[in-house]
Amino acid sequence: MARTLSIEPLTIEPLAGTSFGAVVTGVKVTTLEDATWHELYAAWLKYALLIFPDQHLKRAEQIAFAKRFGPLEFEMAAISNVKSDGSLRIEADNDDVMKILKGNMGWHCDSTYMPVQAKGAVFSAEVVPTVGGHTGFADMRAAWDALDGTLRARIETLAAHHSLHHSQSKVGHETKKRDGEYNGYGLHDGPVPLRHLVKVHPETGRKSLLIGRHAHNIPGLDKAESERLLQELVDFACQPPRIYHHDWTAGDAVVWDNRCLLHQATPWDMTQPRVMWHSRIAGDPASEAALH
Ligand code: OGA
Ligand code: MN
Repeated sequence: MARTLSIEPLTIEPLAGTSFGAVVTGVKVTTLEDATWHELYAAWLKYALLIFPDQHLKRAEQIAFAKRFGPLEFEMAAISNVKSDGSLRIEADNDDVMKILKGNMGWHCDSTYMPVQAKGAVFSAEVVPTVGGHTGFADMRAAWDALDGTLRARIETLAAHHSLHHSQSKVGHETKKRDGEYNGYGLHDGPVPLRHLVKVHPETGRKSLLIGRHAHNIPGLDKAESERLLQELVDFACQPPRIYHHDWTAGDAVVWDNRCLLHQATPWDMTQPRVMWHSRIAGDPASEAALH
C-alpha cells in the first residue's frame, strides 16, 4: 500500500490491523513543499493519525509544523514527569502534575472541557522510558460505524457535559483548592460545555462518537444510567481493530485528529524520565464549539 510521490519521496504506510493511522517516512516535516503538504493534510483527514519517525523537532520547528494545521490553542506544553530543575517528580507525592499525568491514562479527547474543543495535536517524544509510556489512540469513526442500530438510534439525539473537574475527581484529584483558587489548564470555572455524543466531522462529513473520560451527565438520563451508557460506549469503542498504541522512540512526532480519535497515555516506570511535547491545534468555533 506504500505510495511514492514524485515531488518528495513521501511514503504513507497505513498501520496494519487497524481502521486508522499511517506511518509517514521520506520527509522532514519542517521543510514540506506545498504540494507535499496538501498530500499530507489529505492523508491526515483520511487516517486521522500520522506518525513521523526520526524527526527530532526543535521547539520552533514543532510549533511551525503545528501551525500549518491552523491556529494553536497553545504552542508547546511539556507532558513530562521531569521538573523544570531536571529532577524527577516522585510518583508517590501525587502532586497536581502527577495527577494530570495519571488522568491522561484514561481514554479522552482534548479540550472538550473548553468552550471550543481542539482540532488536533502535534505530539513528539524527546525522552522515552525503556518500558511502557506508550500512547494509545482509538478511532471513533470506526466505533460509530460498528455500533448496532438500536444503540445508534438511542444516542444520536443525546449530549453529554464535558469537564476536567469531573474526570480528575474520578481519579482522586481534588481540583478545587480550598481558598477558591483554581490550578492548571482546563480547570477553570464557568459553564460546563455540552456536546452531542455523535459528532459530524467538519471536513470529511464522517460521523464519530464523542465520548471519553471528560464526558458525564447526559441530560434526560439519571446519573447512574448516564455513567453506565458512557462507560459501555467507551468499552465497546476502544477495542481492536479500532485501537493502536504507539511505542515511542525518541525523535518520533505524530499528529492526531482530535475531532474523531480518543487517546490515552499508558503507565511507565516513573523512576524513569518521559519527556513529551504537545502543541495543541485550535478547533474551529464553527464546528468545535460546545452547544452552550
Ligand atoms: C496529551 C495526552 C498522552 C501521553 O498530551 O494530551 O493525553 O501519552 N498525552 O502522554
Ligand atoms: Mn490528551
